[in-house]
Amino acid sequence: MGKLSVIIGTQWGDEGKGKWVDKIAHDIDIVCRFQGGNNAGHTVHVGGKKHVFHLLPNGVLHEGKIIALTSGVVIDPRVLMREIKNLREHVSVTPERLWISTLAHVITPWHVYLDTKSEESAKNPIGTTKRGIGPTYAERDLRNGMRVETMARPEKRKEWLSKRKEADPEFKTFYDQNPALWKEFEVSAAFIADYICPAEEKIRKGLKEGQNVLCEGAQGTMLDINHGTYPFVTSSSTLASQAAVSLGIDPRKIDRILGVGKVYATRVGEGPFPTEIHDQLGQVLRERGNEYGATTKRPRRCGWFDAIAMRFANEVNGLDGVYLNKLDILSGLETIKVAVAYKHPTLGVLNEYPSSSEVLKECKPVYETFKAWQQDIPRQGSFSKLPGAARDFLLKLEEFSRCRILSVGTGVDREDFLTP
Ligand code: GDP
Ligand code: IMO
Ligand code: MG
Repeated sequence: MGKLSVIIGTQWGDEGKGKWVDKIAHDIDIVCRFQGGNNAGHTVHVGGKKHVFHLLPNGVLHEGKIIALTSGVVIDPRVLMREIKNLREHVSVTPERLWISTLAHVITPWHVYLDTKSEESAKNPIGTTKRGIGPTYAERDLRNGMRVETMARPEKRKEWLSKRKEADPEFKTFYDQNPALWKEFEVSAAFIADYICPAEEKIRKGLKEGQNVLCEGAQGTMLDINHGTYPFVTSSSTLASQAAVSLGIDPRKIDRILGVGKVYATRVGEGPFPTEIHDQLGQVLRERGNEYGATTKRPRRCGWFDAIAMRFANEVNGLDGVYLNKLDILSGLETIKVAVAYKHPTLGVLNEYPSSSEVLKECKPVYETFKAWQQDIPRQGSFSKLPGAARDFLLKLEEFSRCRILSVGTGVDREDFLTP
């Protein structure tokens, strides 16, 4: 039996998952995306070149590895086609190495339109990526969505579109008024058809035959549809357990669950963010950390490390440990803060993350403050090479988070990290 590993975000997304997937992919045979869609933006820098993937798993740069999109993913074929074509000069993405599940659901131009319209007309928008994610999952759950299997067969695709035109005059108007969008959809649906297969069956078989599988999470724990800061969440489950659901495997077969976080926190879009920094320092972190969305280019809200949220992420995912990125960004600050508890106006001090969004909304963080280090930190090697203040800071993060730190990121390159 091969090993099954899952790697997920522990915060509000953009923790640097892409970099670690790429880094640990060397002893993996199959890398899968198991939820979300092109709302994700996963960055990796290799040999001085930056790559951002929205749908393809970050293992794609390792020629010879299989990459897969399994049942819980929502796929915009136009984006996927573009991503495959853009990679041509670097690596080839053939149907032998990219497996797209027949069971995944399809984001059509209609779903993108619905997402955009609802965000633009809402009194309190979610701040979505407007990529059609929510409407596609909603239709899946209403059981009238378009599955990849349907998209791949021209006559079935046509039938789905005709039925929808008959049933929904607004859809018909949108369809008739946007021929270029639907033409692009048709072209990409035909292109993607070659890659479609029973991906889950093939992954299960691969595992049984000894192949190692890595499941790459998108978004982050605090954006989970069930356990996150609802309604300011994404529309899929972002937790490690979702990998078993999406691949259709025995959850007890998961060997390793790895978390990714940053030594501070960011959030894009609306919703509660207790440790958000509202003064000039937030802007300093944003500029130094280049905290602008990889998908929408929106400025990310910046805040301090939230150990209560990290403890929660540890608990709901069952982490074996966490990779913490961006230690380099904190060098030279005067002081660094870490939230160790929340204070609620009526409930008092809370040591655990509250499951109620209503409670969370009113919480203020209780901080511990640390003196920062003034020199630059080494990019590679072990923690022992760090200034004492940085080492103490990491020990405290580990203690407050109740979670083992596996490595610490020190720069954008896949080799920029320190180990304990
Ligand atoms: P993902 O969505 O979790 O894969 O993360 P993103 O790619 O959206 O955002 C993470 C950003 O941080 C990317 O631009 C990475 O290149 C960058 N990054 C990752 N680790 C480090 C690190 O340790 N230091 C610095 N300075 N940048 C990092
Ligand atoms: P990666 O995988 C950060 C956020 C959006 C919005 C909310 C809902 O790169 O970490 P959606 O379009 O999913 O309906 O938007 O979720 N969001 C992300 N934030 N990183 C992501 O992905 C995100 N994907 C969605 O900003 O607040
Ligand atoms: Mg991202």
